[in-house]
Amino acid sequence: MTAIATEPLLEGRSVTKRFGGLIAVNDVDFVVYPREIVGLIGPNGSGKTTLFDCLSRVQPIDGGRVFFKGVEITRLKPHRVAHLGMARTFQVIRVYRKLTVLENLLVSRQWRGESLWNQLRPSHPDTEGQARRLIEFLTLEHLTDSPAGTLSGGQRRLLELGMALMPDPDLILLDEAASGVNPTLVETIKDRIRALNTEQGKAFLVVEHDMRFIADMCSRVYVLNYGEKLAEGTPQEVMANEAVIEAYFGA
Ligand SMILES: Nc1ncnc2c1ncn2[C@@H]1O[C@H](COP(=O)(O)OP(=O)(O)OP(=O)(O)O)[C@@H](O)[C@H]1O
Ligand SMILES: [Mg+2]
Repeated sequence: MTAIATEPLLEGRSVTKRFGGLIAVNDVDFVVYPREIVGLIGPNGSGKTTLFDCLSRVQPIDGGRVFFKGVEITRLKPHRVAHLGMARTFQVIRVYRKLTVLENLLVSRQWRGESLWNQLRPSHPDTEGQARRLIEFLTLEHLTDSPAGTLSGGQRRLLELGMALMPDPDLILLDEAASGVNPTLVETIKDRIRALNTEQGKAFLVVEHDMRFIADMCSRVYVLNYGEKLAEGTPQEVMANEAVIEAYFGA
């Protein structure tokens, strides 16, 4: 490291989220630096999706602070955070099943919250060109005019990645990028994420239960357990960590 350390792209300080008596995210510190691919793992119910909900501001944060590009986003509205350049995908895939692949990308060019009617009005040619380039990049050309409901699980994951990419974000939060995806398409998804990272400098925070995926993609990993940060380090370090093994497999 040089004397002038890189500023974090995303930083959480003591982030806490409660649901009644349950502390779903408990005093968690983390950073994502520009151009990093960071993993977020942990057993079922450990708080990964809740942390994403807090970061994308879908859920209010009960304690702690979050900074994105040096701006405090702890209490910003979701669309403001999106404007700053953060996007996310969802554990349960959210695409408009009756709209085509192209139409799904066109509606997601606008910030969520705008009416569907407004979003579907004829788009600017640049927007459609951008959507078509993304479809090609994601190897979905043959499905451009197919309703999203007819796509396989993996193709829908790719489409959802495309929808997240439409506003050209700098950081993308991926919630279970590879679950329900056949092995061939998992490799496509990995390859596209790598290309976005190396060629366009996009950073990712990735939740995934597939440890092969995490080991192949991430330079650093945070491990949550019962909402608390249990470990952090390289994929090799955390996967060899006794406490992490115990959290996953029991004592
Ligand atoms: N809206 C909610 N209301 C009440 N409790 C919730 C809510 N959302 C999540 N929880 C609880 O918070 C805890 C963390 O859930 P979360 O979905 O964040 O876990 P996760 O790590 O994403 O799990 P998984 O790997 O199964 O997706 C769980 O105990 C869950 O039941
Ligand atoms: Mg989850």
